[in-house]
Amino acid sequence: MPDIQSILEGLLSEAVASAFGSEFADADPILRQATSPRFGDYQANLAMGLAKRLGQKPRDIADAIKEKLTLGDAITDAEVAGPGFINLTLNPDLLATQLGSMFRSDRLGVAKSDPPAKVVVDYASPNLAKEMHIGHLRSTIIGDAIARVLEFQGQDVIRHNHIGDWGTQFGLLLEHLIETGWADSTDSSISDLNVLYQQAKVRDDNDPAFAERARKRVVDLQSGEPQARKIWEMLIVESIRHMNQVFSSLGVQLTDDHLKPESFYNDRLSGVVEAIEGAGMIRDLKGAKVVYVDGFFNKEGEPLPMAIQKSDGGFGYPATDLAAVHYRVADLKADRVVYVVDSRQKDHFRQFFKVAEDVGWLKDGAELVHVGFGTIMGADRKPFKTREGGTVKLADVLDEAVDRAGKVIAEKAPELPSEERDAIARVVGVGAVKYFDLSNDRIKDYVFDWDRMLALEGNTAPYLQNAYVRIRSIFRKGEVEPSSLSGREIKLEQAAERALALQLLQLPRIIQSVADSLEPHRLCTYLYELASSFHKFYEKCPVLAADSDARRDSRLALCDLVARTLKQGLGLLGIDTVERM
Ligand code: ARG
Repeated sequence: MPDIQSILEGLLSEAVASAFGSEFADADPILRQATSPRFGDYQANLAMGLAKRLGQKPRDIADAIKEKLTLGDAITDAEVAGPGFINLTLNPDLLATQLGSMFRSDRLGVAKSDPPAKVVVDYASPNLAKEMHIGHLRSTIIGDAIARVLEFQGQDVIRHNHIGDWGTQFGLLLEHLIETGWADSTDSSISDLNVLYQQAKVRDDNDPAFAERARKRVVDLQSGEPQARKIWEMLIVESIRHMNQVFSSLGVQLTDDHLKPESFYNDRLSGVVEAIEGAGMIRDLKGAKVVYVDGFFNKEGEPLPMAIQKSDGGFGYPATDLAAVHYRVADLKADRVVYVVDSRQKDHFRQFFKVAEDVGWLKDGAELVHVGFGTIMGADRKPFKTREGGTVKLADVLDEAVDRAGKVIAEKAPELPSEERDAIARVVGVGAVKYFDLSNDRIKDYVFDWDRMLALEGNTAPYLQNAYVRIRSIFRKGEVEPSSLSGREIKLEQAAERALALQLLQLPRIIQSVADSLEPHRLCTYLYELASSFHKFYEKCPVLAADSDARRDSRLALCDLVARTLKQGLGLLGIDTVERM
């Protein structure tokens, strides 16, 4: 069944064609949901755009379109307002039919994209041998939400965790571990490694001879020298163990199956350099092979080189990313490759995207997208640090979230068994951190604020989880199984029911817009508005105490649909719900 917007678009385009000729039928109808029931249900703002093309006043154009608009099945009333807005009122039967089909659909009326596109989503992707910190939060959860939304839409999603397991940090660590005898111990935990890495870093900065030996260890590692390989493997195993633990606390869908480490591309690097050389794009810079991408300059205003191969033969971050693009596009046949990485790396992405294009790897129209995001700030509006000024560990943030949520739950629902309270605290605490992040426009920085993210009012996870719980408790109180409502008719009699219905029916469009824009906050805004419409409805319209069985069942069905939409929507953001709290 076409959705309401498509139906309205079709009718408007027919009206435009019959008023002004078919060459104008393609005009964008610019449909918006009405801001108040006084203006009907939808507003079409196409008259302003057509005014230029037609050389007529918008108001006259709007009148002419209105004149030709077919009223009846879909639209019952059209009014021209202001400079030329067309306010449309929908037939309640259409709303009820649409809602009925959403109610009966497992997918809440969201169609599967056909044919599916193959999309690689590169996210999380931390550098190993360090504990995961707050800087890894955004890529991990934004990427996870995007992957879930695309998958729900029916796309063929391939998750890649492009972990940094191959870079210079391993040279420092290897050299330091070998020199201090640590290499012989077999049970270093990730926090030991973190400390050792900090020590190695200090030595690297202050002791040129150490730095030189560390460089050589990288070459050893990359050429397969056994001792270096052995210690490296130990570091990787421990790092991955730690990473998986954090992923599991966060509830993200990454497993070992999704690992595509930098080292995976090792065998492909020389081929990549050859291909770029073959395209005549490589220049020599003091023995290093570099590419100059148009439009990139250093601080002095000179063309900025991108190093493909260093003078000692080593390859760096850009070469690995080029090999990865080639693998994803040529081998995996991806239509779209999405990189969820801090905005501060934007130049890196723009540069190698351009190289990939110029070498001719994107000929089949594969699209490369850098999904950048801003920085998490502390209350002082500087990048978030511990009170002592150190790096904030991700595991600590999640522990604190659960702790804080636990206190809220203990106050709110002391009657629940303590085990259940703990489980709820986990869902609410972790959900609060994730939702707070996802609900912010991802491109912007935000200030990390425990009180705001855990608030039970406002655009927060606890508010939405609580709305879900409220609905579930209506069913418990009425001793109604949602499944018993199947086949019931939904009637929209009150304004608040109608508003709620209109809100519910936006879901497919919202999912589409998140998939196109790769902006999860659009889904958050939708869910928040849905929960708010629900609360208005619930104030105005008695449900269990409705004055007839038919009315009660219709309202219960509406409630159930809201609950399912909230659960599904939060699920797409990687956030769980609970039955009581
Ligand atoms: N490991 C990198 C870092 O921590 C992020 C990798 C992102 N993905 C990519 N294909 N470059 O900065």
